[in-house]
Amino acid sequence: MDLSTSIAGVPFRLGLMNASGALCVTQAELEALGESAAGAIVTKSMTPLPREGNPLPRYVAIEGGSINSMGLPNLGYPAYVKLIPELKRFKKPVIASLAGLHPDDFLAGAKALNMAGPDLLEVNLSCPNIPGKPQIGYDFEETERLLSAIRDIVTVPFGVKLPPYFDPVHHQKIAEILQRVGVAFVTMINSVGNTLVVDPEREMVVIKPKGGFGGLGGRIIKPVALANVRALWKIWGDRIPIIGTGGVENGTDIFEHVLCGASAVQIGTVLVEEGPGVFARLEQELTECLEQKGYPSLMACRGKLREMD
Ligand code: SIN
Repeated sequence: MDLSTSIAGVPFRLGLMNASGALCVTQAELEALGESAAGAIVTKSMTPLPREGNPLPRYVAIEGGSINSMGLPNLGYPAYVKLIPELKRFKKPVIASLAGLHPDDFLAGAKALNMAGPDLLEVNLSCPNIPGKPQIGYDFEETERLLSAIRDIVTVPFGVKLPPYFDPVHHQKIAEILQRVGVAFVTMINSVGNTLVVDPEREMVVIKPKGGFGGLGGRIIKPVALANVRALWKIWGDRIPIIGTGGVENGTDIFEHVLCGASAVQIGTVLVEEGPGVFARLEQELTECLEQKGYPSLMACRGKLREMD
């Protein structure tokens, strides 16, 4: 089965990879992704300085998914700038994920990462877990300003990781902005931010940061993710590739994302729960799903979701 895809001209053997954040902070974690069946290696979203992240507990698996408030723990971009050329030995695309606490962080990071030569640069404008810092993706003016400034700095194809939107007007607006900026791809969705899980027995929140508020991930958010992928596909068609993220646990979930219009899919919660061996399982399940459906390749079903007359 042909499970390949291409994002901004970069070929992928398999259109399936880790979401930034899931087991991709340290050199050992990134190398494990390189050795796994994953179609690409995506780094943790990086900031200029190393960060410990938020206090523990900051990730908890819940029924149907997970809640996290990691707070961008990462090694700092100088460390990843050194690591990226080494990760190329795995002969699969390396995607650098860039975050920041201030606009200048993004610009300095973009400059440094561009020199390191990742295959793609994913600008994360949607981390919900930094106390006092809003998700930039919900501020349309700032999103356009920042992405335009990054565009003027980098030569590596760059895209953006977005939060979920819940209104068609917002889908239309962000789509127009990203077209104007000229992003090479979009990854969506990040976790559903600022949700709250309650433990009724202990009458307590389940994670420590931000009074228990955190990003929801896993199966529970799949309908939100599919809706966002579909909404942008309906506006763009195949003009800007979409990497679908959210709620993938099995091969059929990947199929659903691609039916909605995704050109590739990322996984988060299920990777954290199962480890990098999950990619081989999902590759097998996706192959079986497509064979059963009679599709000759993954891209043959892209965007083919049927609507009712
Ligand atoms: C985190 O580190 O808090 C998660 C990253 C993200 O949601 O972008």
